[in-house]
Amino acid sequence: MKRPLIAGNWKMNTSPTAGFALYKELLSGKNAGAFSEDLEWLVLPPFTHLGAFQQLGGIQVGAQNCSQHSQGAFTGEISVDMLSDLGCRYILVGHSERRQYFKEGAPELIGKVSQIMIAKCIPIFCVGETLEEREQGITEEVLERQIREVFDQFSYISVDVVLAYEPVWAIGTGKTATVEQAQEAHAFLRQLWSKFVGENRAKNTRILYGGSMKPDNAGALLSMPDIDGGLIGGAALNANAFLSIAAEF
Ligand code: 13P
Repeated sequence: MKRPLIAGNWKMNTSPTAGFALYKELLSGKNAGAFSEDLEWLVLPPFTHLGAFQQLGGIQVGAQNCSQHSQGAFTGEISVDMLSDLGCRYILVGHSERRQYFKEGAPELIGKVSQIMIAKCIPIFCVGETLEEREQGITEEVLERQIREVFDQFSYISVDVVLAYEPVWAIGTGKTATVEQAQEAHAFLRQLWSKFVGENRAKNTRILYGGSMKPDNAGALLSMPDIDGGLIGGAALNANAFLSIAAEF
């Protein structure tokens, strides 16, 4: 039985001090019973916060990005081993902001996914179409290309990858995909994913929805059969909002 996953992607927000205060607020919520054991919770803070969060503990942490290289002369980069040592089991890959602003494409993403798999960590692999692509009616084509250009390179997918459907037009815009649009994309991704890992594993693969998920729309989205959790941006920066998304399960 797959356990839904609720992940908060803090992006480049909060100072280490403010982030620590937010982490502690979430922890108080957890200690007060706000976190159902039926859900897996995860926060993805900036790298600079990870050491302090790991020391305090209590809520699982992951990373927003990693290097495609294992180690060496790559100034400014952070390797999967470094992240794993700081307690990160989940690492985000292919977020649209990285694709768009840092021009990450298949070569970088293949490197990152393989580093993550070598370390036996888990990639949360993001895909999603732009508004223009949706209006052209090529959403499925785009999702399939984003998956294939990376995962066709692996003869065996050795870890339980998490997929995230994040329609670019719904990220940080306050616009959300309708539950029908989201369910349709998720069902398509699951069926596509079965070609890589087989039907049984695909059935148990968690596919998260991301794109302006908030307490008031989370319930409807999370009730859909192929939506297995959320990847939350803005609302994850507010402890009450993040915690009340859990209450929707
Ligand atoms: P928002 O929830 O702010 O739209 O961000 C979604 C996202 O990009 C999560 O990775």
